[in-house]
Amino acid sequence: MPDALPARSKHPALRVCRIEQFDAKGRGTGPTDTGGRLAVPYTIPGEVVEVEKLRRQEGRLRRVLEPSPVRIEPACAHFGVCGGCAWQHIDYAAQRQFKLDQIRERLSALDLCPEEESLCLEPSPPYAYRNRMDFIWWHDGRFGLRERGKWFSVVDLHECRLLPEEVMHTALEVNRRARALGLPFRDAKRQTPGLRYLVVRRGIFTGDLMVNFVSDPMDLPASLWEGLEGVTSVYQLVNDNLENDLSDGIPARLWGNPSYQERILDRIFEVGPRSFFQPNPAVAEKMAAYVRDRVNHRERRGGLLDLYCGIGLFSVCLADLFDHVTGVENNPEAVHWARINAAGLPISFVADDAETWLASPRREFDTLLVDPPRTGLPPRVIQAVLGQLFPNIVYVSCNPGRGLEDIAALAPHYRLHSARLFDQFPQTPHVELIAFLVRRN
Ligand SMILES: C[S@@+](CC[C@H](N)C(=O)[O-])C[C@H]1O[C@@H](n2cnc3c(N)ncnc32)[C@H](O)[C@@H]1O
Repeated sequence: MPDALPARSKHPALRVCRIEQFDAKGRGTGPTDTGGRLAVPYTIPGEVVEVEKLRRQEGRLRRVLEPSPVRIEPACAHFGVCGGCAWQHIDYAAQRQFKLDQIRERLSALDLCPEEESLCLEPSPPYAYRNRMDFIWWHDGRFGLRERGKWFSVVDLHECRLLPEEVMHTALEVNRRARALGLPFRDAKRQTPGLRYLVVRRGIFTGDLMVNFVSDPMDLPASLWEGLEGVTSVYQLVNDNLENDLSDGIPARLWGNPSYQERILDRIFEVGPRSFFQPNPAVAEKMAAYVRDRVNHRERRGGLLDLYCGIGLFSVCLADLFDHVTGVENNPEAVHWARINAAGLPISFVADDAETWLASPRREFDTLLVDPPRTGLPPRVIQAVLGQLFPNIVYVSCNPGRGLEDIAALAPHYRLHSARLFDQFPQTPHVELIAFLVRRN
């Protein structure tokens, strides 16, 4: 029997909503006193809340009538407006449980069940874990992240709890200098050029700090970065397309080292300004250790194919467990750093599209590791994998909703041996999944 609708709000313009579950965006959803259902950001299952109905079945939280016992005071002054965090109002232990429950439900809905060990989640430091932030310079001088749900508005930030404090301090100092120098900020509407983004990248275990100015073609004075404590590398990423909004561009090194360094499992990784690195190095290290431990249980060594290999994190961490390793990655800059990171190891890296390369692989591989972007594996990659039948597959997914659909598509030929969650993204509804698949006999 579904629960009765919540009692009516005394305020005619408001509705009362009983929150039952989270949706994929981490918003609480549930029935309202007038019969519909709403998704309400910053609520928690079990709560009764008073909301204002907005467009597209979303409600704006006005008052919590019956709070959840796991509701807490958010740490950051910008929480509730800034698009960076969605779950600071939830106790961290409860966040982890919600993520576990959601993925368990998804597994069962897809009729997937890991054969060995029940699903568990590796935690993270709850704050100051991120190694990268892309701050926007808005035309009116605001500097920060986009407002939740509004690509056309930016929150002027004076703190960010996801970043180490000293990194945020450096970002604010760079912004102060940019303003004091009177540098222009790009205006997308009027199509006038200027500074666009400040991308800060931290080696969490090395202390390196790379500062990237994404801008239209323009001269940047050295006084923007001179004397900044801890900065090891400065780049300008030149984006001359007035119509796009990317925090990316053609790199020009302005000062310091060509890459920043990160240390994972006692190995040093060089990371270039346009190369991906896992956003939470403390958890990335646990991920690499987990995959190492799992692949070590195989009976024979064989070869490893690391598709979507980036700067070679998994290839390098696993190389000693295989006879040969091939990494495939479509970003030539990342491949350049992968080759440097793998110096002396039996790994070959190929700069190619995963789909194209997989259509004609040149060797046999015992294990396929895939770590695709949030969009998951393209259908043709799934078809190629089903056609070639690797004995083992390691699926690393930053979007398990999508990753589990791919795993279900592979299920006719592969059974789900084991899986674990890694909380790379505390204070948000996102989580990382690593699954091990074994070919059916
Ligand atoms: C989630 S990252 C994983 C990187 C790496 N496994 C790591 O742990 O650092 C996905 C990588 O896939 C690359 N990529 C995206 N689309 C690709 C494609 N179609 N073919 C090959 N690589 C691709 C991206 O450049 C990025 O480096």
